[in-house]
Amino acid sequence: MPGLPLFWRGNEGEAIMYNPQIHKLINACLQKKDIDIAGKDNLFYTRMVANTTAIYYLYNQLYQHHPHGKPLFIVLIDTIIDAYIKRTTAQKELDNDKEIQGNWFLSNDIAGMSLYVDRFCGDLKSMPEKLAYFKKLGVNFLHLMPVMQSPEGESDGGYAVSDFRKVDERFGTMADLKKLQQQMKKEKMYLMIDIVLNHTSHYHEWAKKAKAGDKKYQDYFYMFPDRNLPDQYDAAMPEIFPESSPGNFTWNEECRQWVMTVFHSYQWDLNYTNPAVFVDMLDNIFFYANLGVDILRIDAPAFVWKQVGTTCQNLPLAHTLLRLIKQCVQVATPGMALLGEAIVAPKEIMKYFGTGLYTSRECDFAYNATHMALQWDALATGDTKVMLAAQHEILQKPFGTTWITYTRCHDDIGLGYDDYMIQHAGYNPYHHRKFIKDYYSGVAEGSPAIGALFSVNPKTQDARISGSLASLCGLEKALNENNTPAIELSIKKILLMQAHSFFIGGVPMLFYGDECGYTNDYSYLQDPGKSYDNRWMHRPIISWDKNNRIDEAGTIEATIFSGTQKLIALRKQLPMVADHKNLTWLSPFNVHVAGYLRTLDDAKLYCVFNFGKETAYLSYAAFKQHGPTAHELYDHWNDKTYTVGFDNEHLILEPYGFCLLEQR
Ligand code: GLC
Repeated sequence: MPGLPLFWRGNEGEAIMYNPQIHKLINACLQKKDIDIAGKDNLFYTRMVANTTAIYYLYNQLYQHHPHGKPLFIVLIDTIIDAYIKRTTAQKELDNDKEIQGNWFLSNDIAGMSLYVDRFCGDLKSMPEKLAYFKKLGVNFLHLMPVMQSPEGESDGGYAVSDFRKVDERFGTMADLKKLQQQMKKEKMYLMIDIVLNHTSHYHEWAKKAKAGDKKYQDYFYMFPDRNLPDQYDAAMPEIFPESSPGNFTWNEECRQWVMTVFHSYQWDLNYTNPAVFVDMLDNIFFYANLGVDILRIDAPAFVWKQVGTTCQNLPLAHTLLRLIKQCVQVATPGMALLGEAIVAPKEIMKYFGTGLYTSRECDFAYNATHMALQWDALATGDTKVMLAAQHEILQKPFGTTWITYTRCHDDIGLGYDDYMIQHAGYNPYHHRKFIKDYYSGVAEGSPAIGALFSVNPKTQDARISGSLASLCGLEKALNENNTPAIELSIKKILLMQAHSFFIGGVPMLFYGDECGYTNDYSYLQDPGKSYDNRWMHRPIISWDKNNRIDEAGTIEATIFSGTQKLIALRKQLPMVADHKNLTWLSPFNVHVAGYLRTLDDAKLYCVFNFGKETAYLSYAAFKQHGPTAHELYDHWNDKTYTVGFDNEHLILEPYGFCLLEQR
């Protein structure tokens, strides 16, 4: 690097300012390429000059001491330029459109669904014909669960990738994926896929070479000849799958090394202290961007940086790495937003949006996992106090970033909110969590739920929850008992849960099957590649006979589908639902009722949800606390108009009922 110091010596402020030496370096790299810096590629060139100082700074934070740090920086710059060159003209135009639109992903027009292609419709070839189904529902954003090559039986639902650039035969081919993407573009739909950043399958080419003794690739993983360092790591690292995959290391007989395997023993953790790993994985990220991906789900980002003596989660350098990815993506493929799948404590989740100079310059999206779990808490207890006690943290999310909001996904439900939030609500955290776990695993007396505990840690008694939305809301039990009022009640709960997450701000992400009320599927128990992982109980195999009942009025499928459809349509109609950091919680006049206000200019939408099993009476005072009081409120959900009464008068919410009230 002519003229560039090996190490960054300036302060953080300088690290985002113009630097003539870096400008010279960029020009030198660009001279070798077919780039028209004064003409059609001028915007790219501008982004490059603007961002590379930050890229250099972040890179040096990670790699200044690495012997290959300096030469690989040039490779990094080349990788960025090549990614841009490979982007099609149409993709570049879309990049520009999205930039002009600004924060396009905050829009209330986007509604998503996450699905396994094979379990949904067989393969990628069959997906285009299903687009009409999504359109009918109002879904215009798809998260395809991992479709890249992954060994059957040691797959973790595709999260153990053996080739990042080859679609697994089970799903089809890369050509099928591209065709689907093109079709989705035509239908103005957004696409999300995963980059499994933290680990590869032990059948990935790098892992195979490492097993064979290739030192270069052994350095792509964390490998140790004896237990000395693994023991030191293990002492401070929690276990992710304590039942099925205890510990964080696996002995590999072939190379006679202990390999770090934080998740399953067949998922080898990548060693990001090696800049070659970073550059290779960034290139994979660009490969996905150039497939036309709109939002990239970065799987398990909390784990990407390890340091002995720590939990190896949420470390500051993990954030540096994500920031580095973000700045690189912004230069080459700026239309692709990033979702950081950090399912961690509320305070920690927030940091994935960036802090300090990098506020809103790290991940564009994160999962609102805290709120997801709080909804389940409120549903089980009928009490919204814990939910409210957590909001001061959740509301810290910076403008320009947004949430994925959801009630259910392919993973377990972790009760990841903090103990102090439970205490603040007046409960004992241990007993409270125990109640929630007992409730959803169906052990608690009178519980209508059928679910199961996932990853019970025998040492700490920690556990998460598996089970489909419908089964956890009581539909499975009600069906087993042929109990019509209980079926109706469970459907009300399902729609309450969906509505609460659809309007709270962020992009709602449905989990496939939930729109039709799929209950738990126990067939995974017959499959040795899945039976050790009860998350498969809520990953249904779609029966299109069942789904086609959405058109038969009065069926469970039709009732849930049309309710969900109506909620999505309302979301799109009401501009104040877009994520403008425009959410205010209503004072808790009734502990069973969660209420929030969404505002935009003079428009106001009050969303109130009764999590209790009894009728709830909400004082009209609740609607008079934030600006001028409306005279009339129109409830979009129930198509009803209310006149705002005196404070000793009440809006009446039926059990598990809700209203979406616009001020008139
Ligand atoms: C993410 C995925 C989960 C997977 C894990 C390991 O948390 O959502 O399904 O098991 O990463 O890749």
